[in-house]
Amino acid sequence: MTTNDTFPPKLSGDLPRIDGPLKVSGVAKYSSDHNLPGMLYAVPVCATIASGVITALDTAEAECMPGVQAIYHRQNIGKLFRAPATFGMRYLLDEHRPVFEDDVIRYYGQYVAAAVALSYEQAVAAAAAVKVSYKAETHNVSDELKPEEITAPHPRIDVSIGDPDAAFAAALITIDQLYKMPVETHNPIELHASVASFDGESFTLFETTQGVVNHRDVLAQMLGVLPENIRVISRFLGSGFGGKLWPWTHSLIAASAARNLKRPVKLVVSRAMMFQNVGHRPRIVQRVRLGATKEGKLLSLMQDSLNHTSMLDDYFEGCSEATGCSYNVANLRATSGIVRRNVGSSTSMRGPGAIPGIYAVESAMDELAALLNIDPVELRRINEPAQDMGLNLPFSSRHFIECVDAGAKKFGWEKRTPQIGSMKKDGLILGWGFAGGSWIAERWSAEASFDFRDDGSVRVSCAVQDIGGGTYTVLAQIISEKLGLPYDKIDVVLGDSALAAGPVSGGSWTTASIIPAVFHAIDEALKLLYHTASGVLGTAMTGQKIENFSFAKGSVQLKNAASGGGIAFEDILQKSNIRFLSGTGSGKATLGMPKRAYSTHSFCAQFAEVTWQPEIARLRVSRVVSAMDAGSIINKVPARNQIEGAVVMGVGMALLEETIYNPRFGNPINNNLADYMVVTNADAPKIEVIFVEHPDLVLNELGARGLGELGLAGVAPAITAAVYHATGVRVRDLPIRIEDLMGS
Ligand code: MOS
Repeated sequence: MTTNDTFPPKLSGDLPRIDGPLKVSGVAKYSSDHNLPGMLYAVPVCATIASGVITALDTAEAECMPGVQAIYHRQNIGKLFRAPATFGMRYLLDEHRPVFEDDVIRYYGQYVAAAVALSYEQAVAAAAAVKVSYKAETHNVSDELKPEEITAPHPRIDVSIGDPDAAFAAALITIDQLYKMPVETHNPIELHASVASFDGESFTLFETTQGVVNHRDVLAQMLGVLPENIRVISRFLGSGFGGKLWPWTHSLIAASAARNLKRPVKLVVSRAMMFQNVGHRPRIVQRVRLGATKEGKLLSLMQDSLNHTSMLDDYFEGCSEATGCSYNVANLRATSGIVRRNVGSSTSMRGPGAIPGIYAVESAMDELAALLNIDPVELRRINEPAQDMGLNLPFSSRHFIECVDAGAKKFGWEKRTPQIGSMKKDGLILGWGFAGGSWIAERWSAEASFDFRDDGSVRVSCAVQDIGGGTYTVLAQIISEKLGLPYDKIDVVLGDSALAAGPVSGGSWTTASIIPAVFHAIDEALKLLYHTASGVLGTAMTGQKIENFSFAKGSVQLKNAASGGGIAFEDILQKSNIRFLSGTGSGKATLGMPKRAYSTHSFCAQFAEVTWQPEIARLRVSRVVSAMDAGSIINKVPARNQIEGAVVMGVGMALLEETIYNPRFGNPINNNLADYMVVTNADAPKIEVIFVEHPDLVLNELGARGLGELGLAGVAPAITAAVYHATGVRVRDLPIRIEDLMGS
């Protein structure tokens, strides 16, 4: 059913965040901002070995300390359960072991107990007073990952076409290199937190989660209660980057303590614990082999990737996701394997899989370009695919070369001289590098609800979260534009598992996933509104069939009526003495669809400039131009903001970020924001973003694909390429260190 004849309208595109004023004024309540009457504070006790068993746990002193309500551990937390193995899109989590399940320590910092007290300070003191004895065993946190260490059922072959070994052996030109990436820790400014309460029957959990519905379902399993007895709320998130996609063990501590003590419990994970207990991007080692002709035509592409993971879980990075859709190569194989280490479970971090994979393959492409003395941008043109080679499917929409052209123009790429160190500006050596990228575009299944209300306002609600990407704003905008309503008449309600089941905010697919569900819900509410209008006596609409109605600018109209006229929807509700009319809608997942007609991806071309001062060994990233092909851009303000944030993160990936495990004790050494370096404003380059807009109607009616993670795709390899151009040094082990460049 169409709502008005001019839809889809031209999107106005620049609505600032509607939740911005709440955030900058401090009114927005994040999970740990919730303070409930009688609330207690929980602080975990973390293992101080990385492998071994607990031999004794002495809580006597801690239990007698001021304010202490309980010290929980394996013997007294109560029965906890495992969630079923992930099935379809249900029960998603990376650390499957319920907290305190056994006495085995498998990583440094693993929770062994938790102190609960009247104040946070008392809980910290009590946690420190718990005495734990261990029998330590040898741990392994080595960052040397070797193929012979691969854990079954890996290695697996992710994609295999043609005969890449033979094509590689026969190729005149070859590249064969190892590319390494360190552990990266998500460091959202908002710490993970859980504020749990239990009323004797039901739980309410304020959680830092990117997925309230999944969190509810997992916690219901682990606590052994019905999902309808758990409500998970996450109204605002101080970002997550994937680290808050799935539940972590602290949430189970808070909920169990609240149940046992019958008082609300707040548990905030400290920054140091965030380096141990809530995931990280794993250590990744990739071997990339390219075979090519002298003209730069790819003949063979092989990528073998390894990622580390924890002793118990199977987090798998999936580095080949983008490999099959990047280039026109008839002989292609990607394999992957996981290697166990005594670390907490790895998890998704912005652009999991594809982006590390792109770093390796794009780096190899830049090496091939240099070897052949072909312009790196030209090398991509030569190998532009007509279809997704890995999936053997056409692209729903691919405008990569248009990105390359638009980005090259903006960057001024034609002025690049290829000789190393040949470009200078203001006494600095310039390096210019390029990389392409992609990010898979899918939809999660989603439900949404839409209400017309008798006060002239409308409400859209969905158990999806706004993790900072602008979901509140985008929903207000598309409803305003579809129904012709001002923003102050639109309530957007998100982040509560009691609402219509929304998707996780992950994969950068939130917008694409909820649009179909929201539009469906609006259409259902409109049907009810038309039906109601036909029942109001004494108007031209009385007794009309719903097919004869339309809606524009807040009013119900008859399609064949002369223009003007119509009745405001609130008048129809008031005349009928109805408070609100609701419609619910749903949208199907594309992820996991057995039969696909298209490869659905977003694409980007990214150009980086570095400056290099050999005299003082000073490297800076000075400029990044990103041209993005992500379908329609619904709102350019948060969209640009997503890419800018991703570029900043990419500079960190290239130059700074690295979690270092102490070989002696197995602990992350740089477990704070002073020693784990992230990019600050002073490090951020000039960032320019171009959107190459081609609606992709395969994904949804507005043609919007995923965006946020795409912004990271080509940044690190563009920077390492630029560093090579400036210095002649190929850095294949991130992050780039000054000592790598000394003497160049
Ligand atoms: Mo993203 S790593 O799916 O939050």
